[in-house]
Amino acid sequence: MKSYILGNWKMNLLREEARALARSLCEIDFPRHVEVAVFPPFTSLSVTGGALQGCRIALGAQDCSEQSAHGAFTGDVSAAMLNDAGCRYVILGHSERRLYQQESNERVRRKAEAALAASLIPVICVGETQQDRTEGRHLEAVERQLRRSLPSLTHSNHFIIAYEPVWAIGSGATPTLAQIGEMHKTIASVLTYDTSGTRTSIVYGGSVKSSNAAEILAEDTVDGVLVGGASLKAEEFGAIIAGVKKG
Ligand code: PGA
Repeated sequence: MKSYILGNWKMNLLREEARALARSLCEIDFPRHVEVAVFPPFTSLSVTGGALQGCRIALGAQDCSEQSAHGAFTGDVSAAMLNDAGCRYVILGHSERRLYQQESNERVRRKAEAALAASLIPVICVGETQQDRTEGRHLEAVERQLRRSLPSLTHSNHFIIAYEPVWAIGSGATPTLAQIGEMHKTIASVLTYDTSGTRTSIVYGGSVKSSNAAEILAEDTVDGVLVGGASLKAEEFGAIIAGVKKG
């Protein structure tokens, strides 16, 4: 089973900064079972992809259009365009988009279907709010969000789920390992429709840094991490990669 270390650069880095970070990341050595990917803003995809030539780090984007046919959709970028730009992955339904762009579960599902149709691997984000957790509704909240955001059965099941509690993103707070384990098991139980025999990978995101990554990655139910702020510094991201168990 692979371990994923995914760096979400969000709306950061101009092209030269992106190029420099990608070049530094290429110096990092990591075992074969580890898959590292970075997710620059659209404007830096090309320069980052160029800087990653010849190294094993994959490229991803932070969103795509739900429209698979090209046409009059001003401001949108299609999954096929991302594939053409060298992307292997696309983050979908990040809580910042659900909040600031009012992205619904249904829209996330359609985006995931468009991404799969263009041979991209969607990283579908789900996570409860602080209020859901305080009121003890976190498991139901994530389960509902997940069921509605999943691509339909007719599509390939090659996607990744990222559990990102909204209250843990950028806050420095993280759930306990037991809370992460409980949620990842709940998510895994929803994914049982997978008939191909391959288990869907479930990664954790929210205030992951070099000081807590190794213990989170050591959890049985955790197949990797989605890292925001700490992915913007090569040394810090490198230390997170180094936290993955050997073998
Ligand atoms: P953070 O963000 O690591 O800065 O908390 C994670 C994310 O939003 O993907």
